[in-house]
Amino acid sequence: MTETPAEQASSEPTTAAKRPMIEAIGLSKFYGPFAASRDITFSVGEGELVAFLGPNGAGKSTTMKMLTGYIAPSEGVAKIAGHNMMEDRIAGSRRLGYLPESGPLYYEMTPMAMLSFFADARGLSSAIKKDRIDKVVDICDLSTVMYKPISKLSKGFKQRVGMSQALLHEPDVLILDEPTAGLDPNQIRGVRKTMRRLSETKTILLSTHILQEVEAMADRVVLINEGRMRYDGSVEGLRQRGDGDLDDAFHSLTLGEAMEPSET
Ligand SMILES: Nc1ncnc2c1ncn2[C@@H]1O[C@H](COP(=O)(O)OP(=O)(O)OP(=O)(O)O)[C@@H](O)[C@H]1O
Ligand SMILES: [Mg+2]
Repeated sequence: MTETPAEQASSEPTTAAKRPMIEAIGLSKFYGPFAASRDITFSVGEGELVAFLGPNGAGKSTTMKMLTGYIAPSEGVAKIAGHNMMEDRIAGSRRLGYLPESGPLYYEMTPMAMLSFFADARGLSSAIKKDRIDKVVDICDLSTVMYKPISKLSKGFKQRVGMSQALLHEPDVLILDEPTAGLDPNQIRGVRKTMRRLSETKTILLSTHILQEVEAMADRVVLINEGRMRYDGSVEGLRQRGDGDLDDAFHSLTLGEAMEPSET
């Protein structure tokens, strides 16, 4: 039987010894007869930064929403820090920071009001609350916009407000859906720097379309296309699939005629 990309990669030693902090176990999401994701299985070990790649409509956001417990899987199990996100979502959510694709921003609020609201909702005590808000304002460089309505902020600042919300309760696991989408090159640099700093202490899954981003930051790549796993392995291994070129590797693994996983 032909070995699939995912199977080949899973034999790599990159995650073997690490405690799994983000686990997708046979995750599928069906909308009527349409499968937005199908039998997605991978795990992110403690301290890893894994890039989640795939073309538009591949199923990245859908899979991330299942991982965070935001939507229920049609099949399979999602776990964060060992907590099943359907059965034990509150415990899992305490460990998890999630930046959704569009940002859970209350546009009429200021960043200060929104962070304060989220801190209360998460049950942070008033002493910790002030400290944590100061910290995320510093990490996300928000001090100049704290009292402007979010609706009036530029896209880059909205994105940073979303990120500050994800970091507020000091989670050790981050799921970030395209954190650099729509940002200018300077902001992208800033976000990458923040990401590298965060990755020293946290487990991160981030989706992106930008292959340089993968090279610059990721320990590993999970690539999906049309809802299915296509690759799980090192950046270097992915590059070899494209004879040394990541663009070529991405292209060949996301063509319609790419190999189907053998078990389906
Ligand atoms: N609620 C829904 N009902 C029906 N189809 C949906 C729903 N949500 C997503 N889909 C479909 O599932 C597929 C995967 O969408 P998803 O948003 O997960 O892709 P993505 O990889 O995040 O894409 P992008 O790179 O554009 O963000 C798409 O074809 C999308 O139209
Ligand atoms: Mg998406």
